[in-house]
Amino acid sequence: MKKAIITGANGQLGNAFVEGLVKKGYFVYAVDLNIENIKDSDNIKPIRLDITDETKVHDFFSSIQNLDVLINNAGIGVFTPFEDRTATEFKKVMEVNLLGAFLMSQSSIKIMKNSSGGKIVNIASIYGSTSSDERIYGDSGRNNSEVYSATKAGLISMTQYMATHFGKFNIQTNSISPGGIYNQQSADFVKNYEYKTPMHRMGKVQDLLSTLLYLISEDTAYTNGQDIAVDGGFLAW
Ligand SMILES: NC(=O)c1ccc[n+]([C@@H]2O[C@H](COP(=O)([O-])OP(=O)(O)OC[C@H]3O[C@@H](n4cnc5c(N)ncnc54)[C@H](O)[C@@H]3O)[C@@H](O)[C@H]2O)c1
Repeated sequence: MKKAIITGANGQLGNAFVEGLVKKGYFVYAVDLNIENIKDSDNIKPIRLDITDETKVHDFFSSIQNLDVLINNAGIGVFTPFEDRTATEFKKVMEVNLLGAFLMSQSSIKIMKNSSGGKIVNIASIYGSTSSDERIYGDSGRNNSEVYSATKAGLISMTQYMATHFGKFNIQTNSISPGGIYNQQSADFVKNYEYKTPMHRMGKVQDLLSTLLYLISEDTAYTNGQDIAVDGGFLAW
């Protein structure tokens, strides 16, 4: 049975990714800070782990002998205005979105290098490639932040680093940049977001899952270092 690790497994996307991989026959280590809602089963092992804690990440990996897939999905944002940003907030987002993905990748690559390879998918964002348009957020208080964008741009860059340095070990690293995924946002925001999106709708988790399954498929053997925007054309204007 192929083994996968998914971080942020308790979140909106992580949950669906875990289910999707289990349906494809994977055994999944479902990693999150909160695992109460993740069911323990023959195919899912919930792992309570702070991916920014180097020692705990190493402890977790010491129990893993083989690994086929790593999905670096855990990510956080911050919604206070740029002028009010504290160093603590800034560092927290950097730590989860970049350091956490780095630590999980570092340990995974050690295992994958000693086997026949593996596949790593980083969940970035369209806001790693373009800035957010504050006009669509109105007074929702959910406008995207500079540090979120910077970390997602960093994750796309780290994807290229890992692809170029570990491709020779048959380790493929790619990223997915989701556009906005519908999650009961305000009607105003949804209307504005749809107007800006060529396909005139927000994304669904299923839209991302199909791309994720493509990237980890055995048939996808030569796609490496790519960032695939799954955004209804948002970045294409
Ligand atoms: N949902 C969207 O519209 C959207 C759009 C673009 C990109 N993304 C990206 O997709 C990924 C998943 O997003 P989501 O909407 O499912 O988010 P979410 O908030 O629903 O889930 C994120 C999960 O990460 C976990 N997490 C946070 N810090 C952690 C840590 N230190 N260690 C372990 N787990 C930790 C949280 O507990 C949470 O369960 C994120 O990287 C996000 O930036 C989401």
